[in-house]
Amino acid sequence: MVMEDKIKEISQIILEAKKVVAFTGAGISAESGIPTFRGKGGIWEKYSPAIYGNLPGLALTFLLRPKKLLQFITDAYETFSRAQPNPAHLALGRLEKRGRLSSVITQNIDNLQERGGCRNVIKLHGDLYRLRCLKCNTQRPLDPTNFGLALQELGSTQPGRFGMIQKIREAIPRCLDCGGWMRPDIVFFGEGLPQDEWLHAQSEAQSCDLMMVIGTSGLIQPAASIPYLAKSGGATIAEITQERSPISPFVDYILLGKAGEIMPPIVEAVEKGLPKQKIR
Ligand code: APR
Repeated sequence: MVMEDKIKEISQIILEAKKVVAFTGAGISAESGIPTFRGKGGIWEKYSPAIYGNLPGLALTFLLRPKKLLQFITDAYETFSRAQPNPAHLALGRLEKRGRLSSVITQNIDNLQERGGCRNVIKLHGDLYRLRCLKCNTQRPLDPTNFGLALQELGSTQPGRFGMIQKIREAIPRCLDCGGWMRPDIVFFGEGLPQDEWLHAQSEAQSCDLMMVIGTSGLIQPAASIPYLAKSGGATIAEITQERSPISPFVDYILLGKAGEIMPPIVEAVEKGLPKQKIR
């Protein structure tokens, strides 16, 4: 089937469905300038996940190579703060606004889905813009401007290893309730998913009639089981991706290409099919 026909059929399903859910991965934010994890130019090519993907690895880097840790954090901060929602995020935002999208279940830790207009975002892997106390689990938003300034100040000094360890230690935000150290509220390898989000995601997957799987390699469990849950609940699955994934053999539609180019025409076709008063 050619792309135009797939887009037409999927938009028709969206118009007729009781519940539509999107399941997204790093690929949806790639056109916003945030590199994906895997593949050429992926984050894990530059920074090994065995070190930078888990807290013990990061703690060890902090002690042995604090400047390298600072470089990793600064790289990530600069990339994330430059990123703007792209046409795929905006298309999902419009779909939700039109009442045709129940939720976005995302593995992404950026805030582009929300900034693209989606309010019902289930964040399975946490949120880079939130901190959590290591001691009492209290959460609070990260102030990106202050964080950027702290990084700039750290980067402008050139102390030795111990001096740098001391400076980073001093810069780590403290909990306002108990004084404990705050960590990024994201899910590192080896950690469990946030329980409420996970239960909510499972219930959305089991009860939808269409799931759009956008920009994920489908390799990391348990998140990667979400499309299978939807499928076993009877949903139609449409995958929008640049490369085939382990999910591809099970999907009903596969649309190969950039999410930022494929999602807008789907949503435009839905909007054309909606009764006029539903379009605000
Ligand atoms: N449009 C659509 N798909 C794209 C685009 C694009 N513009 N660019 C890349 N892709 C696809 C790639 O083909 C790939 O299949 O997005 C996928 C990205 O895969 P990963 O980098 O593995 O990202 P993701 O699936 O989100 O990773 C899952 O792994 O490292 C952990 O916690 C991290 O949440 C992450 C999880």
